[in-house]
Amino acid sequence: MARNKYDIDEELEAQFNWAQFKRLIGYIKPYGKTIGITVVFMIVASIANLLGPYLTKIAIDDKIPQKDINGLVLLAGIYLAALFVNAVCLKYRIRSMTDIGQSVVANIRSDLFEHLQKLPFSYYDSRPHGKILVRVINYVNSLSDLLSNGIINLITDLCSLVMIIVFMLIVDVKLTLICMAGLPALLLAVLAVKNAQRRATQVLSRKQSNLNAYIHESICGIKVTQSFAREAENLKIFKDLCQIYRKAWMHFVRIVFLLWPIIDNISVVTVSMVYVVGISWIGQGVTVGVLVAFVGYIWRFWMPIMNIGNFYNNIITAMANLERIFETLDEKPNVTNLPGAYVMPEIKGDVAFSNVSFQYEEGDQVLNNVSFRVNQGETVALVGPTGAGKTTIISLLSRFYNIETGTIMIDGMDISKATLESLRRQMGVMLQDTFIFSGTIMDNIRYGKLDATDDQVIKSAKAVKAHELIMGLKDGYYTQVNERGSRLSVGQRQLISFARALLADPKILILDEATSSIDSKTELALQEGLGRLLEGRTSFIIAHRLSTIKNASRIMYIDSGRIIEEGTHTELLLKKGAYWKLYTAQFSFLEVV
Ligand SMILES: Nc1ncnc2c1ncn2[C@@H]1O[C@H](COP(=O)(O)OP(=O)(O)OP(=O)(O)O)[C@@H](O)[C@H]1O
Ligand SMILES: [Mg+2]
Repeated sequence: MARNKYDIDEELEAQFNWAQFKRLIGYIKPYGKTIGITVVFMIVASIANLLGPYLTKIAIDDKIPQKDINGLVLLAGIYLAALFVNAVCLKYRIRSMTDIGQSVVANIRSDLFEHLQKLPFSYYDSRPHGKILVRVINYVNSLSDLLSNGIINLITDLCSLVMIIVFMLIVDVKLTLICMAGLPALLLAVLAVKNAQRRATQVLSRKQSNLNAYIHESICGIKVTQSFAREAENLKIFKDLCQIYRKAWMHFVRIVFLLWPIIDNISVVTVSMVYVVGISWIGQGVTVGVLVAFVGYIWRFWMPIMNIGNFYNNIITAMANLERIFETLDEKPNVTNLPGAYVMPEIKGDVAFSNVSFQYEEGDQVLNNVSFRVNQGETVALVGPTGAGKTTIISLLSRFYNIETGTIMIDGMDISKATLESLRRQMGVMLQDTFIFSGTIMDNIRYGKLDATDDQVIKSAKAVKAHELIMGLKDGYYTQVNERGSRLSVGQRQLISFARALLADPKILILDEATSSIDSKTELALQEGLGRLLEGRTSFIIAHRLSTIKNASRIMYIDSGRIIEEGTHTELLLKKGAYWKLYTAQFSFLEVV
């Protein structure tokens, strides 16, 4: 089978170490008290549980030979009470541990989400979003079982193991020793499969991640898939990824379940030995009651060992995922507030770039020595060929990426020394593809200013000429839209985002215009809306529409990461340079001369 190009495994940067395990314990620590209480309950439960065989021994060896009916009834009563205590303790345990497990999972997940929100654009540029999703959802889920049952089981199983051994020793020392003879063999088996199991788990989680990334990408790109009728090819790729995942899973299961038969076999062998030896010793210090009680214990003896083996499986699986979770949490948000960053005061809107150079990736220079000055209230149109660096310039102004050389100032203040919050709160950014969130139109406009009243929302929609359009929708401002605004047209989405930006009332407005053509009625509305939006603020518009470009107070023509021409529409036309060429090639036919 040819290698599937979507089967790309992520490199694991940080291998698991005990420091990471300690971090997990850090999440559990706040619940220490409840865990302690639960352990006490579990110890009580296991004593209650262990009483059974001992009571049986007394019944067989003493009460039945003596025909002591009252004694037998008393023993039965004690046994029943023990069973009841056991049941009550187990119930408490299930409730409290599930609660703790889910709380810890929720905390880890919130920490991840909080951190993801801080990570810079470059983090999201460099990996499939499906792989990020799988970390927040599936990997964290995989911890839930470990946390809700695993850890408490481990503690209680260890406790009950000790107690069973104590009970067994009370009943008969020699038989206990025979029973424990299997333990060294078990230890060897565990050590033998450990590494193979760890590798298998890591492979499994990578394959799951690849599968997830492909599903996510396919759903996002479904319209393109359908319009190119690529369904069959995609299904093939998907099935292929499923096969790879299935194989990884089968391999994982084979290794994980290697341990069970081993434990099973060792336990059966030791139990048989106890039977054989025990029966031959009857009469020589071993009574029938002792043997019956012992057999009762020996099964209970292997139970916690099996559980511990199971926990060990779980922890190895969880660790492979925990590595990914902590790796994400440790990802440095490289665009952060510098030490001693200042809060940017309310700005006027003078912008200056001096000698700004930038590259997204080493060795691939995107901007070269860009310098310009824009005064408060100016409207600057950025034009130029695709890939010239227009979007890059405006992304730097909001500090979505760090620059290596040069400075960017707003009102004479270096933006790299300001806090991100105080900088970005004062900017209105509308990206090339306007994002609409799921919710009502009202919510979407209010996104720019959460405390705005309905009236304020409607006022800003009216100002950008979006009101009429919104009222034309089924439920007006309360029309539900889906994520990405899939029910709205591109022009409608833009008008809504204009209203969103106006409501936020930024001093600097950044607008990456969509290239799509818009019907003339919407176009007119957009123009008016935009005009209203630009009033009284500094704006950078990456413009594709002639009307916007012509009305700008200045045009900057960008090519290959440099500003090669600057001036007003008329000035640049007279110059007969790059802008003039663009204009004659693209726009002149639009003008009625
Ligand atoms: N996130 C990124 N990672 C790496 N390279 C990028 C990234 N974004 C853009 N580039 C590269 O930087 C260059 C400038 O891109 P930019 O998006 O600024 O162009 P643009 O002028 O906005 O083009 P368009 O008009 O098509 O939107 C391009 O060569 C592009 O390949
Ligand atoms: Mg662009």
